[in-house]
Amino acid sequence: MSVDLNQTYIDPQDPTYQPLLEDLQGNILKGHERNYSAHIFVKFKSEHEAARKWISHFGENFVTSAKNQIEYSAKYKQSEGTESGGLFAGFLLSYKGYKALGFDLKGKSEKGKFPCWNFLVGLPSLAVQQKLEDPPVEEWEEGFQDEIHAFILLADNDRDNLAKQAKQIVEEVGRVAEIVHTEVGIVLKNKKGQIIEHFGFRDGVSQPLFLKEDIELAKEQGTDLWDTSAPLELVLVKDPFGEGEHSFGSYCVYRKLEQDVRGFREAERELAKKLRLSDQDVERAGALVVGRFRDGTPVTLSPSEQNSDTVPNNFNYDGDRDGMKCPFHAHIRKANPRGDKNDKYQTLEEHRQRRIVRRAVSYGEMPNARDNSLSKLSLFENQLEHLKELKVQPASGEKVGLLFLCFQRDIFNQFMFMQKNWANNQHFVNYTTGLDGIAGQGKKQIEGQAWPKEWGKDEKVPFDFYHFVTMKGGEFFFAPSISFLKNISAIAVK
Ligand code: HEM
Repeated sequence: MSVDLNQTYIDPQDPTYQPLLEDLQGNILKGHERNYSAHIFVKFKSEHEAARKWISHFGENFVTSAKNQIEYSAKYKQSEGTESGGLFAGFLLSYKGYKALGFDLKGKSEKGKFPCWNFLVGLPSLAVQQKLEDPPVEEWEEGFQDEIHAFILLADNDRDNLAKQAKQIVEEVGRVAEIVHTEVGIVLKNKKGQIIEHFGFRDGVSQPLFLKEDIELAKEQGTDLWDTSAPLELVLVKDPFGEGEHSFGSYCVYRKLEQDVRGFREAERELAKKLRLSDQDVERAGALVVGRFRDGTPVTLSPSEQNSDTVPNNFNYDGDRDGMKCPFHAHIRKANPRGDKNDKYQTLEEHRQRRIVRRAVSYGEMPNARDNSLSKLSLFENQLEHLKELKVQPASGEKVGLLFLCFQRDIFNQFMFMQKNWANNQHFVNYTTGLDGIAGQGKKQIEGQAWPKEWGKDEKVPFDFYHFVTMKGGEFFFAPSISFLKNISAIAVK
């Protein structure tokens, strides 16, 4: 029986979903939950027969299925974090990657067609760059300026094992492909062991949820104001080269986003001064930028941190129509308007269909990390070594940021829409709202964003707060089904 993608609340034990979960890559329906990551970007050599053989071997022996990952997650929870779970591996292809492997993507048959226009042109294309107001490709990090065919994602809780396996895989894939770029990432945690990003805010809080267990947990705080559950169709599409009716994949957006932590903190202090915030209220400046305090408390619900272990997510902006508690330009209000009634063009249901699944991880690298005299392999080894030293507070001169990665059914209607029509759009949700203070990029603001002087009171102060995040490169990928990867050598190509 084929799977109904309108379904949510998926029970992984239900036989209806077993074939899908066995053939789907992990990290899509649920995060891989490993602390250390290595991202390897490759360009296939012209002899694509050998490359396809290697991919088939990698798909067979390394790539982690959604099923295995869900089982791992249950064991990890039971062991209270002591079980390492071993290596997680994913394999994703860019459109140029499919072409380099000889796939005919323009054929007349339905098979082999990717109906996602953005995937076809790629993130580095001028068309996408202009739409997103990204920096020109010549300003991206060198490795990202090269053609990227595939993205190998490795992750582990055991840093040494990750380093060992990653080096071995780089050596193996190096026989059939050129390593064009590498990144390493780490899950940053605060003193309480909660996940944060480099500006110090709790991250990975509000996500679309698909699995029964995750939805049950979220339901404990109620779903009357915001329902976190999401149908499979929010992220899954048929794999055009998949084996059968249970073969699905997902589109992935990858962007390296550098964070100017010092600039952000200085502007935060300036904003606090401008709003005359003192003592414990000072923290509210940052909360107005993000829409949540550093401990995750939504500023639309409270004027101060609540320090609760469960971060509230059952809320919307109905009680804050004038943006007097959470400004309209706050990052989470821009990225997920939750049916904001100020939006004259789209309904709650439409906002819900724009959601993305975020699987980002933080990074940090010393100023000499991108030394051009180093081979790609030595650079990768240095990066893996540096993982040992990465801390929440960046060392002096260290470049830090987020390896932003998200999954969706359609890049145009989800990530692109969110970035272009919401974060970068100074007139969303209202005329002269301004840029998203975190993710907004592009033109200088027409007017300063307006900030509530007192929480919930009717006076706003203008102040410019934006451009502390810079895009350094990336690409659009597709995470194909595992059966496709395993059988890739047998699929007829040009
Ligand atoms: C360095 C860049 C970024 C940082 C530091 C950052 C940080 C955060 C933080 C702290 C949260 C609140 C906690 C949470 O719900 O997980 C959040 C939520 C979110 N972010 Fe970002 N973010 C960044 C870039 C982006 C980009 C580029 C997008 C998409 C265009 C995005 C989309 C979202 C979404 C959809 C949410 C959840 C909103 C909600 O459901 O309430 N973020 N981000």
